Amino acid sequence: MCGIVGYVGGQSALDVVIAGLRRLEYRGYDSAGVAVLADGGLAAAKKAGKLVNLEKELVERPLPAGVTGIGHTRWATHGAPTDANAHPHLDNAGRVAVVHNGIIENFAALRAELAGRGHDLGSETDTEVVSHLLAEAFSSSGDLAESMRQVCRRLEGAFTLVAVHADEPDVVVGARRNSPLVVGVGQGESFLASDVAAFIAHTRSAIELGQDQVVELRRDGVTVTDFAGDPAEVRSYHIDWDASAAEKGGYDYFMLKEIAEQPKAVADTLLGRIDAQGALTMDELRIPQSVLREADKVVIVACGTAFHAGLIAKYAIEHWTRLPCEVELASEFRYRDPILDRRTLVIAISQSGETMDTLMALRHAREQGAKVLAVCNTNGSTIPRESDAVLYTHAGPEVAVASTKAFLTQLVACYLLALYLGQRRGTKWGDEIRAVIKDLSQIAGEVERVLETMEPVRALARSLADKGTVLFLGRHVGYPVALEGALKLKELAYMHAEGFAAGELKHGPIALIEEDLPVVVVVPSPRGRSVLHDKIVSNIQEIRARGARTIVIAEEGDEAVVPYADHLIRIPATPTLLQPLVATVPLQVFACELATARGNEVDQPRNLAKSVTVE
Ligand code: M6R
Repeated sequence: MCGIVGYVGGQSALDVVIAGLRRLEYRGYDSAGVAVLADGGLAAAKKAGKLVNLEKELVERPLPAGVTGIGHTRWATHGAPTDANAHPHLDNAGRVAVVHNGIIENFAALRAELAGRGHDLGSETDTEVVSHLLAEAFSSSGDLAESMRQVCRRLEGAFTLVAVHADEPDVVVGARRNSPLVVGVGQGESFLASDVAAFIAHTRSAIELGQDQVVELRRDGVTVTDFAGDPAEVRSYHIDWDASAAEKGGYDYFMLKEIAEQPKAVADTLLGRIDAQGALTMDELRIPQSVLREADKVVIVACGTAFHAGLIAKYAIEHWTRLPCEVELASEFRYRDPILDRRTLVIAISQSGETMDTLMALRHAREQGAKVLAVCNTNGSTIPRESDAVLYTHAGPEVAVASTKAFLTQLVACYLLALYLGQRRGTKWGDEIRAVIKDLSQIAGEVERVLETMEPVRALARSLADKGTVLFLGRHVGYPVALEGALKLKELAYMHAEGFAAGELKHGPIALIEEDLPVVVVVPSPRGRSVLHDKIVSNIQEIRARGARTIVIAEEGDEAVVPYADHLIRIPATPTLLQPLVATVPLQVFACELATARGNEVDQPRNLAKSVTVE
C-alpha cells in the first residue's frame, strides 16, 4: 500500500530516492519522507501530503549530501496522514530510521513494552516500534542485518521494512513478510523498492526476495538470509521493460496513456500463445494436464476490476468447457468456508500480484488441496510465486490507480485459459478454438478503432460533469461491463454510480430513475443471442419512458436501439462473449474525462492506492 525505496551507491542518495518515490507515488500519496546517512549521522525529512510537499521542504531545509538513503510514500493505515505519522520513523537517539509497508498486528503490545523500558514513542503508527526495537537490538549486536532478523522474529502481521543506521553508513537493510520488496543490482550500487519501477532508470537486473527474508544491501552486492540468519536462495531476473514504459510519454495522465496502450497490451498478451496454424500453445502453463482434465469446478477469486474480469471469464469458461464456475470476491472467500478439494481449480486474478485479499484467498484454497492458477501482470510478485501455475498478462506497467489495460489483458488471458481448458477436456474442437482465436486476434485492431472515435464520448462526459448519479445497465457479459463502468466512475469522478443487471431493473432499481438521470446501457449484439438484445431494448424503453437520459453503447449496424438512444456510442461488432473487450473502452474514457472535468486527480484518486497490500 505504501511505496518504499532504499539506495546505496555512488550517486546522491536523495536524488535516487526522490526519483524512485515519484515512480512509486501511485502506491500511496498521503505523506512522504526520506532519510540519508551523512557526516557520521542520520538526517531525515518528512511531510504530509503529496511528494511535492516533501520536495518543497527539502528546498527550504536541505539535507546533507550522502550516498546511502531510504524513502517512503505513504497510504495511511495506523494514524492520520500527518507530518508526525509520515515515515521514516527514528529511534529516540536519532541513529536508526525505518520505513514500512503493511501492518504490524502486535504493535500495541510491543509499544507498551518499549514504553515500560523508557522509550518515548511520538507517533500514532505501528511502524515506530520497529525503529526502537532495532535501536535496542543494534546496541548489543552492532549489526543492522542481525538486528533486523531479531526484530522480525518478534513481529506479527504483514510488513516490508527498510532501515538504515548511522553506525553502518554503507548499509541498507530490508525485510519482507507478505508484502512486496525487490532488489535492484547495479554497477557499484544497489537498490531496494516495493516495485522495480523505482530503479528501472538505473538497472534492469533484479532479485526477488522470498517470504520471511532479510537482505543486506551494500554498494558491491547483497546478502540474503531467512529470519533465522541462514543463507537464502535467491532468484535473479531481467526486467523486460524500460524506464519509458513507466513514464507518461507526453500524455497528461498515466491513465490516458494506459487507455491508449490497450491495443498493444491485448496483442502482446496473445503473443507466443498462438502457433502458425492459429492453434493455442500454452506450454508455459506448468500445471499437470491431469489437473485440467480432472477438475470438476472452477472458482475465480479477485478484487475490484480483476473481479469484474472474473465475472466475464465465468461466461466463457462455462460456455466453452461446461465446467461450473463460481466467481467470488477474494475478501469474502475464506470467511465463508468454501467447498474446495483437489479437483477444484482456483483462478486468482490480480494485476499487481500483491493484493492481500487475493493472496489470502489463494492460500486458503491451497490449504484445502485446490490447485491455484494465477492470472497476473507483475513478474515475480507474491501471488504467482505462491500459485501452482501462472499465466502472465503482458500489459506492461500499469501506474494509474484506475485499472484499464490490465483489465483488457486479464480478459484476454481468461479467454485463452477457457479455450485451453476446453481443448484439454475435449469440450471444444480444434476448429472451434481456432475460430475464437481468429476473432481474438482481430480485437486489438477493433480496440484501436474504438479509441479513434472517442471524441463524442469525451464531450458527453464533460456535459455531465455536474450530475450527481450515473447508472449502468447490462445483460450477460454486459453486466460485469456495467459494473466496471460504475467502478471507474466512482473511483475517478467520486460520483454515485451503480451497475445493474438490466433484468433486475424491475425488481427495485427502476425506482431510482428520474427526469434526466444519465443511464448507460451496454447492449449485446443483435446477432447470436438475439433474445438478450431484444430484452435490453425493452429495458431501454422502460427507463426512457420514466425520464432517463439514455446513453447507449451498441454495435455498428444495430438500428433497433436508435429510436431510444439519447446518446449513441458505437462499438465494432464482435462475437457476444468478446464484446467486453471493446465495450469497456468508452466507459474508461467517459470516467477519465468526467474526472478531469470535475477537477479530480485522475491518476491518484482520493483515498485509494494502486495495490492493496493489507486486508
Ligand atoms: O492488483 P489487483 O488486480 O489485485 O487489484 C485489484 C483491485 O484493487 C483493483 O482492480 C482496483 O479495483 C482498481 N483500482 C480498479 O480500477
